[in-house]
Amino acid sequence: MWDSLWVDLRAVTLADGEGMGLVEDAAIGVQGGQIAWVGPRARLPGPAASLAQHVHACGGNLVTPGLIDCHTHIVHGGNRSNEFAQLAEGMSYESIQAAGGGIRATVAATRRLDQEALVAASLPRARALVAEGVTTLEIKSGYGGDVATELRMLRAARQLGELLDVEVVTTLLALHALPERFAHDRAGYLELVIRELLPEAASAGLATAVDVFCEGIAFDVDECARVLEAAGALGLGVHVHADQLSPMGAAELAARCQALSADHLEYTGQSGISAMARQGTTAVLLPAAFLVTDETRKPPVAQLRAAGVPMAVATDCNPGSSPCISLTVAMALARTLFGLTAAEALGGVTREAARALGMLATRGTLEVGKRADFCLWQLDEPHEFGYWLGSLKPRQVVRGGRLRG
Ligand code: NIG
Ligand code: FE
Repeated sequence: MWDSLWVDLRAVTLADGEGMGLVEDAAIGVQGGQIAWVGPRARLPGPAASLAQHVHACGGNLVTPGLIDCHTHIVHGGNRSNEFAQLAEGMSYESIQAAGGGIRATVAATRRLDQEALVAASLPRARALVAEGVTTLEIKSGYGGDVATELRMLRAARQLGELLDVEVVTTLLALHALPERFAHDRAGYLELVIRELLPEAASAGLATAVDVFCEGIAFDVDECARVLEAAGALGLGVHVHADQLSPMGAAELAARCQALSADHLEYTGQSGISAMARQGTTAVLLPAAFLVTDETRKPPVAQLRAAGVPMAVATDCNPGSSPCISLTVAMALARTLFGLTAAEALGGVTREAARALGMLATRGTLEVGKRADFCLWQLDEPHEFGYWLGSLKPRQVVRGGRLRG
């Protein structure tokens, strides 16, 4: 007997690899926190009441996999609303950073906070994402500027996962901005990252992956490659902030380092796309960062699609380039700004986001054997995902087979 059975659903399973994978009048059986059965209700192996302890009638709601935000920087101190005005006046993201603002400003604000204060500052952001149906949440460090603060950020991220009903996946963003005290010693900073930061984060089990910001205003391909190789040697996954503001060859780097994902990609060219396709690197599109930085160059969505590169969508929630605390808004922006279809946008925050985190085996679609993470939505049609711009919330969320209170 299953623990629970959910019937009278329209299941957007995302299981066919491309489209919505819609199953009309569907049922989902849950056992031990996993999906034990999914399909048309008419094919259930017996009368509903005989199959499960609890039967939930869902009134014809749409059900999707739990949402996955696979790229966020929600743990940080302060905000940079002052820069938002500068961006609006036409200053570029790069020139704001050159003038002393940008990532370093958030590093200073973050370093002032102890773990408790960091958690308190980040909790409302995490809560907002969870309320939208996010069941798996990636959180990066990167505003530490020193080993102790980086580890504190990761601990704060983990603590958010204990406080809220969400699985937090932590990424050590090892190269983000060169700390001021290393302004004349880039090599010294790289040494610190490779010899101390990575091993300490890995041995404390505080991160499952490492990310780098490969950009003209940040770190070059060779510097990133050294850190990513060290990450790989420690058995950590790899992600790259790639070609966001300029063509860096960072998508090629990501493929070469067998990265799970290359993120942003506004300036990625055909060779980067081909390399990603060959390697199976997932593209993570971050339309809110594109919008807020007033970028005009769009990521090469048509070419990524043609090459068969999987495309995920995430908020990139951060205080500078993407003060976006809504994955459903990111989904809508991916449609309106980048031309994703509804199936691509929804797949981008479920199946492909799971793939970008290396977690597709356990989540991201509604299939037997996966975690029973799913959201019920009071919507008429699946193509309403990425159509409503704001305030889209699930009616109910099930995580690990348990209904969220
Ligand atoms: O993903 N590009 C680098 N990192 C962030 C921005 C961080 C910040 O501005 O604070 C991003 O856009
Ligand atoms: Fe980012």
